[in-house]
Amino acid sequence: MTSAFQWRPATLSDTAHIARLSKEHLGVYAEGEEIFAERIRLAPEGCFVLANGVAIAGYFCSHPWVRMKPPALHQMLSQIPDSADCWYVHDVAVDPIARGGGVVADACERALEVARAKGFRVAMLVAVSGAGSYWQRLGFKDATTEALRLKLKDYGDDAVYMERALSDD
Ligand SMILES: CC(C)(COP(=O)(O)OP(=O)(O)OC[C@H]1O[C@@H](n2cnc3c(N)ncnc32)[C@H](O)[C@@H]1OP(=O)(O)O)[C@@H](O)C(=O)NCCC(=O)NCCS
Repeated sequence: MTSAFQWRPATLSDTAHIARLSKEHLGVYAEGEEIFAERIRLAPEGCFVLANGVAIAGYFCSHPWVRMKPPALHQMLSQIPDSADCWYVHDVAVDPIARGGGVVADACERALEVARAKGFRVAMLVAVSGAGSYWQRLGFKDATTEALRLKLKDYGDDAVYMERALSDD
């Protein structure tokens, strides 16, 4: 990683950069600026950008949600439900120039520490385009059910629903 880039909390003024990175690195699974703006509004403590001054080379977006019920792509959430029982890693992308050295693992640990502090005991995500093996290295395990496989069709046939325990008990 280029050490000049550091994670900092995302703000609404970052959403154009985030949408640009999403488009460049997630292709057909990219989401629009309004989706990221809503996530930052709902859970600013779970959203970060990898910044060097005004340059933004990555984002990590996460928020509370409901276990086994990942939102559909492009779905606005309106609010975090009272029944939220899980920390959802919604999306991450980093420009090649800033990848490596565990840069995303750092952001993930920072977000999951927030989740733990709020009392969440499980984190979840949807891995796309074969990224499951990447997330496995960060402690997530495949927990896809047949019902979820159908629900995740928008994320591609190889989408995997994954969970990670946030506490030992
Ligand atoms: C996924 C991503 C954020 C990881 O960035 P990073 O933490 O800096 O990790 P690196 O790129 O240095 O990769 C670390 C290791 O994971 C592997 N890896 C990276 N992306 C992977 C992927 N999509 N699937 C499988 N393995 C992957 C790398 O090959 C590397 O392996 P190595 O240690 O054996 O060389 C970055 O590759 C990215 O932005 N990809 C495009 C967007 C994306 O796929 N987001 C996740 C969607 S679920």
